[in-house]
Amino acid sequence: MKRRILFVDDEPNILKGLQRSLRPLRKYWDMTFEEGGKNALKVLEKGAFDVIVSDMRMPDMDGPSLLKIVHDKYPTMVRIILSGHSDREMIMKTVKSAHQYLSKPCEKKVLVTAITRSCSLRDLLNQKALQKLLGGIETMPSIPSLYGRIMKELKSKGASASSVGDIISKDMGMTAKVLQLVNSSFFGMPRHISNTGEAVVLLGIDVVKTLVLGIEVFSKFSKKTLSVISVEKVHDHCVRTGIIAQNIARVEKMDKEKADNAMIASILHDIGKLLLVEYYIDDYKDVIKIIQEKRIPLFEAEREIFGITHAETGAYILGLWGLPENIVEGIAFHHNPSKNIGRELELCGLVHVAELMEHHEQSQPGTWSKLNALDNEYVERLGLQDKIPLWRDYIQRK
Ligand SMILES: [Fe+2]
Ligand SMILES: [Fe+2]
Repeated sequence: MKRRILFVDDEPNILKGLQRSLRPLRKYWDMTFEEGGKNALKVLEKGAFDVIVSDMRMPDMDGPSLLKIVHDKYPTMVRIILSGHSDREMIMKTVKSAHQYLSKPCEKKVLVTAITRSCSLRDLLNQKALQKLLGGIETMPSIPSLYGRIMKELKSKGASASSVGDIISKDMGMTAKVLQLVNSSFFGMPRHISNTGEAVVLLGIDVVKTLVLGIEVFSKFSKKTLSVISVEKVHDHCVRTGIIAQNIARVEKMDKEKADNAMIASILHDIGKLLLVEYYIDDYKDVIKIIQEKRIPLFEAEREIFGITHAETGAYILGLWGLPENIVEGIAFHHNPSKNIGRELELCGLVHVAELMEHHEQSQPGTWSKLNALDNEYVERLGLQDKIPLWRDYIQRK
């Protein structure tokens, strides 16, 4: 079925330009071009759309206000904002209501890729099985409180490494856990880190806040789930996967932001398991039984029982908590990155390879020549065959 896409801008010339350059996509997309937010809302009332791409500054109704209404009225639509460079402050206002931000002028290829990728992520997360499963949960877990406070602080004007460190340090239990983790052999720190402010300076706010989120989520679920899976083992696996993913990103000379994002997505990549165990403990016992009987990977057994896996479940909840789209995508596709349309090594690919390397290192340290459960289609598409042994050598040397 064709995707229905609505483009909104106050300048008719921009709309005409878009219409001209996107004409070859008419086979796949049903496109509508509207002048201004009010007209866009009228069109939306007449029929459903999959995607809205809106300009930021428009006289009748600005992009953030339009996307806010779209978010409330049509929550499953993909919302993309196009903005000029001077709009940073306004971008912050839309943090909640846009899935993607693209800067103007936007190359056609970038725009097409952003729309296509967001649609495939939405398809994955809008699956009936997932909706049914999570719709059955009366109260969805809310965003953990300390993480929520850090996010609030980061949105305020005076936010800094030390103010974030301060918030964490007021919680003694969390401080102890963060410092224990940061000083563990996983991170290989050059010296002992003695306070959270220092951890924030060395690792960066984004990584530390993810560690906090990970610790909060994992500790919240620990009691009930202990009988079925070891929460501690899953957490360790996630953190170690994060470090491996970050190292791969470094070998590939990716920028710091991407390396950090690889770590962040990895630290959170398996939290869907906790959610499934927490709410569907008996069904999860069946998952474990099937794995032992049929000797299939965990995610395949989950699919047999639930119709979905912990990857989509985790991505869904993190999306609800407002984590960035690229992190959510990295988690959603971490077992089968070839299902994602990218042709570059993306977060889902980094998490995928890193988690398999981690599993392998834990079960047969230093012995592997081939990774089990590797998404071969992805490896071939990206030509990673020769790179994986190099990554392994680099990580083993560390
Ligand atoms: Fe997984
Ligand atoms: Fe994993």
